[in-house]
Amino acid sequence: MSFKMKLLTGNSNKTLSLKISKFLKNKLVNSSIKKFSDGEIYIEIHENIRGNSIFIIQSISSPANDNLMELLLCIDALKRSSAKNITAVIPYFGYARQDRKVVPRTSISAKMVSNLITKAGADRVVTLDLHSGQIQGFFDIPVDNLFATPIFARHIKKKIKSNNLICVAPDVGGTARARALGKMLNVGLAIVDKRRPAPGKSQVMNVIGDVNNKTCIIVDDIIDSGGTIVNAAKILKEKGAKDVHVYVSHGVLSGSAVDKIKNSKIKNLVITDTIDNSKKVQKAKNIEILSISNLVGEAIKRISNSTSVSDLFN
Ligand code: R5P
Repeated sequence: MSFKMKLLTGNSNKTLSLKISKFLKNKLVNSSIKKFSDGEIYIEIHENIRGNSIFIIQSISSPANDNLMELLLCIDALKRSSAKNITAVIPYFGYARQDRKVVPRTSISAKMVSNLITKAGADRVVTLDLHSGQIQGFFDIPVDNLFATPIFARHIKKKIKSNNLICVAPDVGGTARARALGKMLNVGLAIVDKRRPAPGKSQVMNVIGDVNNKTCIIVDDIIDSGGTIVNAAKILKEKGAKDVHVYVSHGVLSGSAVDKIKNSKIKNLVITDTIDNSKKVQKAKNIEILSISNLVGEAIKRISNSTSVSDLFN
């Protein structure tokens, strides 16, 4: 490649970083990230990067605090090594769910994390399926928010043989995402009316739209405890849905989520590899992982060549 671009990886998802590096035919920067015995993180870059455009790839996934700190220290090390510019490639942008004050006297973690990334020295952020699009505005540097929807649409067209499909948002907040997928597939939309009586607990009230005898495609940005998706699948089946397939960008899959999915009404859950789940889902026959590596790689290439990223989705 003609441009002077280099890729650096954190520890959160090295498998994905290696795939991106392979796609771009560009080796990962030689570096080491270690921990002192008290848990403090220490990063060292072992090659000259002066004047280079560096893309640091790191998801803010579990352990979120360590991975976030690693990202910040990597950006700091790059800045102090005279990189020309630094792009934080954050396939899974954690801490995004607290994006406003829903009750008094709480923090807005999405804004706090945005401030930290900017303050550390990032010039640009590339991420995928931000929990809410407006988080882009929490930054005063460019943010490219990529979408997994085209990858999901291709998979659905190839794998699901049904002429009675409907896209379903598992809560009102996911309506735009489900509508976008529905538009690509040329199918209608239903919405599950979900309430959150307490953080981490979800309660399904009703389904808006007719799902009787239909193959339902639920689409969401995050599957964490699995409560939202499992409850949505249950009510869709109660309302007469034929099958329920689920497409989620970020497989957070905390606690017993994998078991919940295995024992649920869900025919197939498709997640992406923004978070490294290869071991976690090994034994779950109804969970499949699609890679976003080529999409992220292509976006990096376009940023480096100063060509359009949004054209990827037209
Ligand atoms: C909520 O607004 C998000 O889009 C997800 O639906 C939610 O984070 C999933 O969480 P869980 O799997 O714990 O219900």
